Amino acid sequence: MNHLHNVITIIFCSFAASAANAHPATAHNNDRFVFGAEFDRDHVHTDSVHAVSGHHLRTMGTSSIATDELGESLELHGPGLDGQGAYVLIADSVDQFGDMPARELTVTSWVRIDEPTRWGGILSAVSDNGDREKGWVLGYDNDSFTFGISTTGADDGDGAMTYLNGKTAFESGHWYMVTATFDGESARLYVNGKLDAQTTAQHGEILYEQQTPIAVGAYIDSNELHTMQGRIRNVYLFDEAITPEQIAMEYERNSVIAELQPESEIQLEWTVEPFLCYATQRSISVLCELPVPAEVRLRYRPAVGDVREIHSSEKSGIHTIRIDGLEPGEPYYYEVIAESPEGTRVQTDPMSFQTAVERGKAFTFVMIGDTQSNPDVVKRVSDIAWSHRPNFVSIAGDLVTTGTNKSHWTHHFFPNMRPLINRVPIFPILGNHEQNARHYYEYMDLPDPEYYYSFSYGDADYFMLDSEKPMGPGSEQYLWLEDKLASSDARWKFVVHHRPPYSSDENDHGNSWLGPTTLGDQNPRQMVPLYEKYGVDIVFNGHVHVYERTFPLRDGQAVEHNGVIYMTIGGGGGGLEDFTPFNPWFGSKKVSTHHICYVEIVGGHLRMQAIDDQGRLFDQIEIRK
Ligand SMILES: [Fe+2]
Ligand SMILES: [Fe+2]
Repeated sequence: MNHLHNVITIIFCSFAASAANAHPATAHNNDRFVFGAEFDRDHVHTDSVHAVSGHHLRTMGTSSIATDELGESLELHGPGLDGQGAYVLIADSVDQFGDMPARELTVTSWVRIDEPTRWGGILSAVSDNGDREKGWVLGYDNDSFTFGISTTGADDGDGAMTYLNGKTAFESGHWYMVTATFDGESARLYVNGKLDAQTTAQHGEILYEQQTPIAVGAYIDSNELHTMQGRIRNVYLFDEAITPEQIAMEYERNSVIAELQPESEIQLEWTVEPFLCYATQRSISVLCELPVPAEVRLRYRPAVGDVREIHSSEKSGIHTIRIDGLEPGEPYYYEVIAESPEGTRVQTDPMSFQTAVERGKAFTFVMIGDTQSNPDVVKRVSDIAWSHRPNFVSIAGDLVTTGTNKSHWTHHFFPNMRPLINRVPIFPILGNHEQNARHYYEYMDLPDPEYYYSFSYGDADYFMLDSEKPMGPGSEQYLWLEDKLASSDARWKFVVHHRPPYSSDENDHGNSWLGPTTLGDQNPRQMVPLYEKYGVDIVFNGHVHVYERTFPLRDGQAVEHNGVIYMTIGGGGGGLEDFTPFNPWFGSKKVSTHHICYVEIVGGHLRMQAIDDQGRLFDQIEIRK
């Protein structure tokens, strides 16, 4: 590359050359060279790194190789499901490594911090346990780079560190050459070749804790581990204080790296972030959508146990990942990672889900209806639901205003239902506003034929129907429901469909202010004989944007015992409606407000609470069997 004879320049040249993917072997020619690693495809393997200094390094946690227009680097993803994040272990201990710089040192790295944190470590050979402070660490503290060192000159008996805090505020996603030197009398920190901080507080020989590990991409000692989220191109260590001029030259040679723009503009983003749907005792579905073709994988584990991984079979659009083989009623933790063929990537935070509980176990659920408009209300309602930490949520139709309009799903429904649907599975049913659109069927993962289905949770069976389709005797849904109800051995039976068989709405079923009105929808009304014959406990519906609870009903009248209760829970977001000017024969409780319905079941005891969008309880019933 050049013919200079200055040894240090040659080393730094080789270092410079390596950044541009030339061979760095000449680094070995310098006897002040202690350690060096290039984090590219030539040197990084599945769980190890072959350092240019000959050392064999171990990668801990999950990392990957990132590519940019100037080459490659090691991407450390920060703490995920594993809890600890990734880093590269150079040696288990200073003792084992041997030959650490004793009087002078230079440590330098091209690094990119994507998530500024406290206690950041780029190259760590430190031990900081109470008053016992030894070794040194090149790192960062929030948005400034740092260099900490402990020497005999400032030793208070068990070592005392001095931390240099650089004055340059670094930007996330940008590359910096960070260099620290110690020459026996002063410690200096350089950012992009310029002096950023210095101190003469430390002098003499460097103090080490012989048992402390040496690592790249972490601040680590015997009782602390703070891992980095960002990228590292290379790290070099010399047992000599390289001069300011040489450091400035080295930066100039590679300054093009500092001009690389972060890919935030081309970062992969979710069209629909992962959410949960249809849990059983053994399985659950996670769905997400990406705007471009991508490899999607889901990682999950129980509270105690190994991480397992499932790859989506889809290559683009909506990804549906069904997790099987789970234990009933247990919490699990999961994260979803998507990578485009171009190498852009997006990853969720660690999230959680819970499988359905077995018969005999207590549980709770939330009913919401008509989340179709008023996004701020939907967000309040879903946050109230989330605050109760229900086992699951069922949505009684009209999830969106216009089912055929994709943006209503991607921009209204899904964003406003979080964090609820990240952690609590949904069991939806179609309303009239879905318009039977394919988006509903694509976004939801439900048993065939999807427009109706059933599920079990604890001591309850749920029968989900589409009130936009025929419900009369002889219809597909009627025949299916009769068969399912007849064979159900559940202690509690609930039906969910969108339109109400009984309703006190003022004008949906005739103008009640002048009469006549049918006081409910005639299509689902045809199912009432089945509900009564097979002892359905509660029929939940939406459509009318109010809260309404009927008396227990049987044979066309209110009854004290063995009646079916009909609940309209259409207060999830749609504009509120009003009631008839008189009380129909079935009318018990009517409140026109946005709300959720929270139900808990313990054996033969059910308690239902209606809670408005400010969190206030406004209706409650209990049923005992
Ligand atoms: Fe509605
Ligand atoms: Fe509706």
